[in-house]
Amino acid sequence: MSDKAFAATLRREVERRRTFGIISHPDAGKTTLTEKLLLFGGVIHLAGAVKAKKAARHATSDWMAIEKERGISVTSSVMQFEYDGYEVNLLDTPGHQDFSEDTYRVLTAVDSALMVIDSVKGVETQTKKLMDVCRMRDTPIMTFVNKLDRDGRTPFELLDDIEQNLGIECAPMTWPIGMGKLFQGVYDLRRGMIRFFESEGKGSRPREAEVVKGLDDPKLDRLIGESAAAELRAELELLEGAGYPFDHERYLAGKQTPVFFGSAVNNFGVRELLEAFLQYAPAPRPRAAESREVLPTEEQFSGVIFKIQANMDPAHRDRVAFLRVNSGRFSRGMKARHQRTGKDMLLHNAIIFMAQDRSGVEEAWPGDIIGIPNHGTLRIGDTLCEGKEPLRYLGIPHFAPEHFRRVVLKNPFKAKQLDKGLEQLTEEGAIQFFRPAMGRDQILGAVGALQFDVIAARLAAEYDVQILTEPMGIAAVRWLAGDDAIVLERLKRDNQSAMVTDSDGHLAMTFASEWRLEKAQEDYPEVRFLTTRECV
Ligand code: G4P
Repeated sequence: MSDKAFAATLRREVERRRTFGIISHPDAGKTTLTEKLLLFGGVIHLAGAVKAKKAARHATSDWMAIEKERGISVTSSVMQFEYDGYEVNLLDTPGHQDFSEDTYRVLTAVDSALMVIDSVKGVETQTKKLMDVCRMRDTPIMTFVNKLDRDGRTPFELLDDIEQNLGIECAPMTWPIGMGKLFQGVYDLRRGMIRFFESEGKGSRPREAEVVKGLDDPKLDRLIGESAAAELRAELELLEGAGYPFDHERYLAGKQTPVFFGSAVNNFGVRELLEAFLQYAPAPRPRAAESREVLPTEEQFSGVIFKIQANMDPAHRDRVAFLRVNSGRFSRGMKARHQRTGKDMLLHNAIIFMAQDRSGVEEAWPGDIIGIPNHGTLRIGDTLCEGKEPLRYLGIPHFAPEHFRRVVLKNPFKAKQLDKGLEQLTEEGAIQFFRPAMGRDQILGAVGALQFDVIAARLAAEYDVQILTEPMGIAAVRWLAGDDAIVLERLKRDNQSAMVTDSDGHLAMTFASEWRLEKAQEDYPEVRFLTTRECV
């Protein structure tokens, strides 16, 4: 291919890619929505396929499930499908028992996110946490309010809830007509169209959408009944005064979220969501490296590792590193420089995540994810690239853990194996590890509480080390930074018993309560108490 032709192909491939993750609280409908999206993408042909897999994994953590069903989870971590000429990469954001730092980190590898809100429950804790991560990079977010077939909160209450609790403007794209038993469908605000709700499984063909000529069209009364029409008119009048019109730029800047209403389990409102998503969501964007921003259309291949998945074969200790392609083209068998070590790596056995029936795909483009099997060379945050430039990507950080436990080693003679195991598991990003400045405690830190069980199980299985973990009085940890060395020293001296270092030797401080954290922030305004730390 000539240089010019290659540049044109690269531009086209970038333009048609959409890489995203779903943020939601458990049970809001993420799995159901994923399944419907995959049905549209033709990846699965049977409703229930994703669900069945989830049910199989439900009782225990992802890791324990992989033990039984090796490899499955690796491929379901990235789901790629084609729709209407677009290549869509949906990255799994593990929830439920699998909620962990990976869930956060996956969100640093996407270009946009889809937020699912349960219309009965409104904004819930996990969504809030995930939203905070999205906010770090001003990730654009589209919202799907789910379960309109149930009696939930009114649309105004829901929009208010999102705006107040998540601090983002809402721009409704559709508006529900009734809800619960009275749910008739949605009014498409952009097209002036009514889409009728049909619950799935009745065997009836969905009713065609009806176009109305504005809200004053008497056809509206005939279609949905006079009282529902009057209510719709009143609500939309109110919305006009109080709501935000859709603004593409504000959406792309992460300031506004377009909102769709529907029912995932009934496959209602999902196609509209998908089509708007493809139209408005961003293609791969420039990514920040230490020295500069890298454009996806730059011809030299580059990418960053954002997740490591252990393959769980104790005999081999192989791991799959997930790399997001940030620029250029990846082709199987190519060589790329591993920037942290300065060595070249031959990428001959990389896994290219592709929808079914498209085997033999040999290349990947910006926004795509590839899996690179390795024996521990690759770590989270590592950059791989072509060319001589010493490129190092930023923005794939460690996140401050929210749960803490002390390690108790059952057999003291296994201390060395424990150290080795913890070193490798922290490199993998499976857990974080801290040592106090005073005392001999070994402190584990996790974002999801079940990570402790997974670590204990893995230490036993892979390193033959039995541990127990004990709760301890830590509520939060923050990495410390500041330009004033004297103030930092004073903080350290006055709080020696709270000082810890992480597995890479970075200084952090622990707090017994949120209140103590706030107090320290007040007392030491010159110090930055960081919730994230760059991995490399
Ligand atoms: P998650 O991945 O976010 O945890 O949620 P998931 O899709 O598993 O959905 C959680 C529950 O909510 C499921 O019910 C699912 O069927 C239901 N659900 C999803 N979308 C809708 C909807 O639009 N309306 C209603 N009424 N329910 C919805 P479940 O009882 O846990 O499982 P199942 O046995 O029904 O599959």
